[in-house]
Amino acid sequence: MVLKRERGKGIGAGLSRITRDWALQNGADTIMSEVWDDDERSLAFVRRFGFETERRSWQSVLDLASGEESASAADAAVIERLEDEGIRFVSLADLSPAEDALRQLHALETGTYVDIPGFTGDTMPYGDWLKWGLQVEGYAPERVIVALNDDQPIGICNVIRNDETGGMYHQYTCVAKEYRGRGIALALKLLAIRLALREGAGYLRTDNDSMNAGMLAVNRRLGYKALRGRYRVVAKL
Ligand SMILES: CC(C)(COP(=O)(O)OP(=O)(O)OC[C@H]1O[C@@H](n2cnc3c(N)ncnc32)[C@H](O)[C@@H]1OP(=O)(O)O)[C@@H](O)C(=O)NCCC(=O)NCCS
Repeated sequence: MVLKRERGKGIGAGLSRITRDWALQNGADTIMSEVWDDDERSLAFVRRFGFETERRSWQSVLDLASGEESASAADAAVIERLEDEGIRFVSLADLSPAEDALRQLHALETGTYVDIPGFTGDTMPYGDWLKWGLQVEGYAPERVIVALNDDQPIGICNVIRNDETGGMYHQYTCVAKEYRGRGIALALKLLAIRLALREGAGYLRTDNDSMNAGMLAVNRRLGYKALRGRYRVVAKL
């Protein structure tokens, strides 16, 4: 980035050249970066330097100020249908022994990371996942909604609370591969909305990726509205 008042003087172009040379010297074959989707000038800049748009990501927000659930009756019925099929919905606080439950959630969550379109990280070992994946600021075991089949966790929706804004954020939602396409993510997110309403949250936020068709379908159906987003841009060296 270049300070607004210093733009148009070639500083950004100079920094880009130095970065590119440094990356090449260190054996890199690709550079990735991010640009706001409404920043035409910066988009034109990165294109000039050989970057191409790979995907768009943005946050979506569900306004809960009315205090009422906006899901359709048909979508709300999905929870009952799944319960009839033998799926149970509990919170992490209901599961014991806690250590065993955490180990199972770790396996389930980290096993699904590779299915997130655009995921570039490593699978986190248990201790790292506890700290960076699950028990982040605003976490509470009561806010981790778990779908169980035969007492085995098969889906998770972890919502965290932002005490400063009074809102909540979807930290992570996933469903085990063999249980996808049955409405389990929809049910988990509906239960998260109900939880947020019970706790008096003003909104629920989530991150979206243009290539995650499944999650987008769920969020749109539940009434999440897209905010300003960012393009991930990639340059091959
Ligand atoms: C995204 C994810 C949670 C969806 O779970 P799921 O239980 O299969 O989703 P649901 O069955 O509740 O789907 C609800 C709706 O979304 C649609 N949908 C689901 N996956 C879809 C896909 N790949 N493409 C298009 N639509 C899809 C379904 O058709 C369904 O609508 P319908 O009932 O009218 O057919 C699951 O694929 C997953 O765990 N992915 C890896 C983790 C991830 O990407 N998490 C979110 C980002 S952090």
